[in-house]
Amino acid sequence: MSSTTSGTTWHRPAVPVRADRLWNRLMALSEIGRYLDEPSGLFGVNRLALTDADAEGRRVVKRWMEEAGLQVRVDRIGNVIGRRGGADDTLAPVMSGSHIDSVPTGGAFDGALGVIGALEVVRALDEDGARTRRPIEVAYFTDEEGARFGTDMLGSAVAVGRLGLDTALALTDRDGKSVGQELKRIGFLGEAQERLSPPHAYVECHIEQGPILDAAGMELGVVTGVQGISWQELTIGGRSAHAGTTPMSLRRDAGLAAARVNVKMHEMVRSGQYGAEMRATMGRIDVHPGRVNIVPSRVVCTVDLRNPDDRHMARAEHDLAEHLRALSAELGVTIDARRTAKTEHVQFADSVQTVIARHVTALGLKWQHILSGAGHDAQELASLCPTAMIFVPGLYEGISHNPRELSTSEACARGVEVLYRTMVELAA
Ligand code: GLV
Ligand code: MN
Ligand code: MN
Repeated sequence: MSSTTSGTTWHRPAVPVRADRLWNRLMALSEIGRYLDEPSGLFGVNRLALTDADAEGRRVVKRWMEEAGLQVRVDRIGNVIGRRGGADDTLAPVMSGSHIDSVPTGGAFDGALGVIGALEVVRALDEDGARTRRPIEVAYFTDEEGARFGTDMLGSAVAVGRLGLDTALALTDRDGKSVGQELKRIGFLGEAQERLSPPHAYVECHIEQGPILDAAGMELGVVTGVQGISWQELTIGGRSAHAGTTPMSLRRDAGLAAARVNVKMHEMVRSGQYGAEMRATMGRIDVHPGRVNIVPSRVVCTVDLRNPDDRHMARAEHDLAEHLRALSAELGVTIDARRTAKTEHVQFADSVQTVIARHVTALGLKWQHILSGAGHDAQELASLCPTAMIFVPGLYEGISHNPRELSTSEACARGVEVLYRTMVELAA
């Protein structure tokens, strides 16, 4: 079916996306890196970036891209991009995608829905025998999670030029292995140019990863943007000593310092001085030597601050830094703070949100606008081209970064149907 708007002819999707096909592929991908989460008895997904499991996932999805007839390229930071030609191949493409790496305790949907959903869009177009005017590109970006090499949105940040290629390739994990070495080892150190020419638009479908849509009884969310994210790694140096013989007044306890920083972050949130939406997490605390009867000599811990308001975020960062200085003097420890990631609040394009909202409304779905609490590759692409996202609600209060992460086949298919219609309209 074709229709004419403002002089251009564009294809209207006649074939819907297939919920069963989408779901089967989501489940098939979740078999890769599957592990039994002992405490919950549930199966989770561990495809930490550039591990063997991530490599296997990458190979499978790359094969799916090739089977869909996409022309696939791997770039110098390991991003994988499949292209479906348009009627006018000289035009900038409409792009969609996400990531297939996971946190070590992940679920089946985070990132995977966006990549497999975009591939389902291509399959629906093929079944429909449709040719869009602009090319369509489907991408999975390297290490969105940042859970291994410490910096999130790694591949997409390099693709848009926010992060240098050499800096990204040199990042190391806890064992000293670098991104470059690991990309090479798994066979994904490609040769394609990593800097993307600006696409015409970028649209990403993702699970919400939070409770808002489900609690409000919404079927989809149209994402307005992403809140600011600030990550640091703290190395706290104290002095190891005997736990029984060393008087408290003579200690330089790195473990105590880490605990105090964590409590301070919590107090900052509770004070309300940094806005009602500030969030703070110390997700990693590695204590050395880590024995019951030894005063800790060293702690490596992380700070994750989130805030939709950049001014509140800047003040929180400043006040925490002051606290670290005071704590260091009070407890006689050294505190070395290294910034590992920082992004400000990103506003998505009204133009793309409007197209998404129109299709959600036309489908008769209950929806609302929502600001993303989690980081996404879309926030990087937003610096290159008009960008927005579609959120699919999750079950169980939208829990994510956890094996309990779950959505339904119907909910995922709704999100991808909207992605399909949106992409087709933007590619007209
Ligand atoms: C990405 O998953 C994030 O940490 O927000
Ligand atoms: Mn994600
Ligand atoms: Mn994630």
